[in-house]
Amino acid sequence: MTTKFKNPRARFNFQGRTCSITGVGAYVPEKILTNADLEKLVDTSDEWITTRTGIKERHMAAKDEFTSDMAAKAAQRAMKMAGVTAAQIDLIIVATITPDMPFPATACFVQQKIGAKRAAAFDLEAACSGFIYGLEIGQQFIMSRTYDTVLVIGAEKLSAITDWKDRNTCVLFGDGAGAAVLQNRENSHGLLTAVMGADGGKADLLFMPGGGSRCPASKETVDARLHFLRMSGKETFKNAVQAMCSAAREVLRRCEVDITRIKCVIPHQANRRIIDAVGERLGATPEQMFINVNRYGNTSAASVAIALDEAVASGKVQRGDLILLVVFGAGLTWGAAVIEW
Ligand SMILES: CC(C)(COP(=O)(O)OP(=O)(O)OC[C@H]1O[C@@H](n2cnc3c(N)ncnc32)[C@H](O)[C@@H]1OP(=O)(O)O)[C@@H](O)C(=O)NCCC(=O)NCCS
Repeated sequence: MTTKFKNPRARFNFQGRTCSITGVGAYVPEKILTNADLEKLVDTSDEWITTRTGIKERHMAAKDEFTSDMAAKAAQRAMKMAGVTAAQIDLIIVATITPDMPFPATACFVQQKIGAKRAAAFDLEAACSGFIYGLEIGQQFIMSRTYDTVLVIGAEKLSAITDWKDRNTCVLFGDGAGAAVLQNRENSHGLLTAVMGADGGKADLLFMPGGGSRCPASKETVDARLHFLRMSGKETFKNAVQAMCSAAREVLRRCEVDITRIKCVIPHQANRRIIDAVGERLGATPEQMFINVNRYGNTSAASVAIALDEAVASGKVQRGDLILLVVFGAGLTWGAAVIEW
C-alpha cells in the first residue's frame, strides 16, 4: 500500500507507538445570547456584528457554572466515546485563560469532578492556541510511554472577563468546553505533526491587565476596568491571518501533502472573515472549511475542540481522513496540527 502522506514523526524510533485522539466531546451552556440581546446592552446592531464577524449567537455560562464544570462535562463525553473510565486517566491538561481561580489549577477541580483519582493535573495558558498546545504536550507523554491515557481539554468562561460596556469586544466571545482523549492506537498515524509559535513582543494586542503580579486587584484596578480583556481588533486580525497561514503551510509541508488532501480544515473560530481569509490563502474550498463561529462566537481554548467534536459528530470527518487544525490567540501564540483521524 502506498503511503499518501509522510509521517514526520517516523524518523524517531517510537517502535510503532502513535498518539491518536480516541474520543472527543464538547459542552456549551444552555443560555444563548443573541445579537438582538446585545443590541439592548451596547450601541451595536445584528447587521454590524454579522457582517464584521459572522457571529449570530453565543452561549453564556450560568452564574454558578464554572470553567471546571464545563470542562468536566466535555471530558466525560470524550471519555465515553473513547471507552475509557476515570481510573484510566493518567494526566489532565486544561487549556484556559479563565480558570476557576488563579490557583489551584482548574485541571485539579476537573480531576475531582470526574473522579480521575490517579491523574496528574495542570493548566496551560496559551489563550486561543491552548488546545493545540495541549495536544502537542499530551502527545509527548504518550509517545514517550510515560502515560497511556491523557485528557486534553479547552474550556472557557469568557463571559467572566468580558467588559459588557465595551462594544468592541463584548460581541465577540462565548463560553464552552471541548475535550479529547489521547491514546496509543494501532493502525493509525494519529497526530502526525504540530507547530507551536509565540511572539511576546505583541502581548499588548490582546490581554487582561489586572489581577496578576504586575497589577494586583485593588479598588483602583476594578474602577479602571482592568479585570476585563482588551484588544486591538485590526492589528490582531492581520496577525491572525498571517500566523495561521504560515503555521498551516508548515505542517502541510512536513507531511508532504497539499491542501487538497485535507478532508477538513478546522480553524480557530474567532471571526468569519479571518476564517475565510485563511481558507482562501491556503487554497481550501468552502466545503473543506469547518465553521461554527456563527453559533458560538470565539470560545478561545475551547474553540477548535468544540469544532472538532462537531466535525466528527456530523460525519464530516471519518476515520482515516486528514484534518488540519490551525489556531491563533493572545500572547501572541499560534499553532497548527495535521491529524489522521
Ligand atoms: C473586532 C473586529 C470585528 C472589528 O472589525 P473592524 O472591521 O476592524 O472594525 P473597526 O475596529 O475598524 O471598527 C469600525 C467601527 O465600528 C465600531 N464598532 C466596533 N464595535 C462595534 C460594534 N459591536 N457595533 C457597532 N459598531 C462597532 C468602531 O467603534 C468603529 O467606529 P469608528 O470608525 O467610528 O471608530 C475585527 O477587528 C476583528 O475581528 N479583529 C480580530 C478579533 C479577534 O479575532 N480576536 C481574537 C483573536 S484570538
